[in-house]
Amino acid sequence: MTKLKTKHLLGIKDLDKEDIQLIFSTADTFKEVINRPIKKVPSLRDTTIANLFFENSTRTKISFELAEKRLSADVVNFSASGSSVKKGETLVDTVNNILAMKVDLLVMRHPNPGAAEFLSRHIQAKIINAGDGAHEHPTQALLDAFSIREKYGEVKNKKVVLIGDIMHSRVALSNIFCLQKLGAEVMVCGPTTLLPKYISSLGVKVEYNLKKALEWCDVANMLRIQLERQDIRYFPTLREYTMLYGVNRQLLDSLDKEITIMHPGPINRGVEITSDVADSKQSIILNQVENGVAIRMAILYLLAGRTDQ
Ligand code: CP
Repeated sequence: MTKLKTKHLLGIKDLDKEDIQLIFSTADTFKEVINRPIKKVPSLRDTTIANLFFENSTRTKISFELAEKRLSADVVNFSASGSSVKKGETLVDTVNNILAMKVDLLVMRHPNPGAAEFLSRHIQAKIINAGDGAHEHPTQALLDAFSIREKYGEVKNKKVVLIGDIMHSRVALSNIFCLQKLGAEVMVCGPTTLLPKYISSLGVKVEYNLKKALEWCDVANMLRIQLERQDIRYFPTLREYTMLYGVNRQLLDSLDKEITIMHPGPINRGVEITSDVADSKQSIILNQVENGVAIRMAILYLLAGRTDQ
């Protein structure tokens, strides 16, 4: 297979196992490219890409921009602050004005769940969802699974636990879909208040005890407490959360095996993870960031290369 079955990348739910494997094999090639002295290829010369960020980002924004530039695309960056969105312009009007300037492909992060899907129904250009509220963050899940594959050779049959604020996390939902499609076993672990009631209907194991979750898994993906999306208090204090759900060196040393630690970033050091764990050899956090560029190059290349509109 040389072509994705989807025109847009709105969520992992739109991909099947073959699509994911095609993205991974393409990313393998681009990972080799970005480690060369000359990191650039002409694949997307004459393609114009707009990065629309209606919500803050460090990793995803820079990673997409670097991926686009490594593929020789022309790149424009838009952020909501300082734009005419502040004057009341609608999302569709803003995007149609940008597309009128002959933009071929959009990458969009938006605080509203479903924003990328909504836009895909109103415009002609291809869209990549770079995170929509608490819904999906497909490129993060793909780079996470790619990093597990890099570490272990394959994702199938690996035991992965997502720990923390599952309720408000787009990374959690996309990871669950992606890992299951690749044949991994998935568990979620966190306080009752941060695990949605529907979660077991997605076919994941549910564990409230952190030590038991760590004893079960090969890989622990630590999620950030999404304070910006919490309208009420879901636990008494951050200190209590850390005591019950924070991963520290002592806890890892008490296990009878060496597990792999992941985190999508940004990290709350000393809350969900201590610095000595985040910076240890068990952590592949910066490998995830490196792999993000190769994964995004692969997706951009595969979507931009589709001839249908
Ligand atoms: N992992 C992630 O999405 O980070 P940013 O919010 O910095 O893009």
